[in-house]
Parts: sequence; C-alpha cells; structure tokens
Amino acid sequence: MARVAVTSPLPGTALERLAQEHEVVIRNGPPLSGSELADFVGDAEALICLLADRVTAELFASARNLQVVAVYAVGVNNVDLPAAFQAGVWVTNTPDVLTDATADLTMALLLAVTRRVVEGDRFVREGRFTGWTPDLLLGRGLAGKLLGIVGFGRIGQAVARRAQAFGMRVAYHSRRPHPEVGLPDLIFEPRLDELLAQADVVSLHCPLTPETRHLINRERLFRMKKGAFLVNAARGEVVDEAALVEALTSGHLAGAGLDVYEHEPQVHPGLLRLSNVVLLPHLGSATRETREAMADLVVDNVRAVLAGKPPVTPVVG
Ligand code: DGY
Repeated sequence: MARVAVTSPLPGTALERLAQEHEVVIRNGPPLSGSELADFVGDAEALICLLADRVTAELFASARNLQVVAVYAVGVNNVDLPAAFQAGVWVTNTPDVLTDATADLTMALLLAVTRRVVEGDRFVREGRFTGWTPDLLLGRGLAGKLLGIVGFGRIGQAVARRAQAFGMRVAYHSRRPHPEVGLPDLIFEPRLDELLAQADVVSLHCPLTPETRHLINRERLFRMKKGAFLVNAARGEVVDEAALVEALTSGHLAGAGLDVYEHEPQVHPGLLRLSNVVLLPHLGSATRETREAMADLVVDNVRAVLAGKPPVTPVVG
C-alpha cells in the first residue's frame, strides 16, 4: 500500500476509490508554502495537488519516494517541470475532460463583456430600469467580427468552433498551422502582432511558460485594434495586468472578460473599478461534471503509476 498526499478534497468519489487501495491523506486548508508542502508530502509515493500549490525543486529533492505529481488542472505552470524530470517523477494533468467547460466559459465571458450582461444585471438590481429605450446599454454584436485566438490547443480549437457558430470569423496564432481541426475558413496567422492588430476580440488560450509570461505586454495591448475586447481564461500572468488597466482606462480597449489574474487570487484594484470588465474567480472548468471527471483522471493517473504503469495523461518535456 502506497501513501498518497492530497492537498485538497476533490468533488465526486474518486478519492474514496483510491483510498480502497492506498493510504490517502487529504488536507483541507489554504495552499501550503514550498517547505510546508514538502513536509506534507514527506515520504509519500504520490502527490495530488491543485494549481495553487507550488511544487518546487526543493520538494523533488526532499520527497525521496515520490513517483508522481498529479495536478488537478490542465495547466501545470505550478510545477518545476525540469526538476521533476530530473528527479524521474511523473507529472500528470487533466486535459480533454475540461475542454468543453473552459470553452463554454470563454464564450460566456465574451458575450458578457460585449453585450454588457453584468452591467445590465447591476442596472436592474439597483432599481434603475425604468423602461425600454432605444439606446439603453448598447453592446457590440459578434456576427461578422474577427476573433483572434492566441494558442490553438484543445481549448482554443473548441472556442473557435463555438465562435463560428455565433457567426464570427476566426483567426488563430500558434506555433504551426492546424489543418487537422477541419473547421471551414479558419485563418492561421503566424505573426502575433498582426493578429492583435486585426482582431475585434482577442481570446488567450496558450499555456503559461517562461516564453508566454507577459506575452500580452503594454506594447501589444496598444497594438490591438482600438475598441477591441480581450478575453483571458488561460493564465493571468500571460497579460501585463497594470498595462491592461491602462489600455482599458484610456479607452483604447472597449472591455475585457477575465477569469484569471496575474497575482491570483488578488485582482488589480484598477480592474475592480472598471465597469467594462467582467471578472470571474477562475471558473473555467467549474462544472460538477468536469470537476468530477478531473478527479477521476487524477486518480487514474496515480493508480497507473503506483501499479508500475505509465500514467494516462503524462506531461512530457
Ligand atoms: C486548468 O485546468 O488549468 C484550469 O485553469 C483549472 O480550472
């Protein structure tokens, strides 16, 4: 029987299933610092963690029995991957099962910000709705507009499908073209700056890596078309948040829909003051079905490794 350290309870019954075969130690509390996490892992063979847990090189050095770190997320920027690979520890994530939920939420943000859904809700609750008028809270339509997708993995592709169903034209920026996606009239744009300059809405779907940190910096924000919208359901650090506040406050950008933040869970106070920004608390994958499927996948990965097999969804270097 192996020991599995779990940094948080998970939805569904997957952890109960795991506990029938292994010793499962579940903590419940705020994210641990690097050294606290190392203490918690101790001599465990497996770690199941959230994206808020920092899995550092120090942890890999001290956790001598560790065989697998199973991250309850698709993005694994919280793990020191080179250190994991050097230590010979598997790292796994939860791709596929959260694609639809995250793409749906991206569309929710896109619609909410362009059609002023949250502003409208506040307007009604504040008792300001006194009757229909031709110019009340006018937003922007999506049909015929160009959506620029940055990062064209599973989630970016799922967003493209949805956006086309709304009548949007779709261009994407990625390392290579993806003809296999099979959507009609998709535009591949190898030049990020060109995509930013053309798109009416830019939606970010790239992973956070050293290369993509502040990919959307001040210069690029102001390179975006005047009156464009930015949607980010990927990782907050891809955007220079202070510069985003400047681009929104100056009126260069018309609005933003954000699910993630540069210093999560803190949100830049400038964003909190703006009514043309929709702010969500990192809900991309937050449906019951998806979160249970993520827990099942995390557990399947751990069980495979502890049985001496390769994991189902390994992160490869
Ligand atoms: C992920 O899986 O990376 C998401 O951000 C979590 O909802």
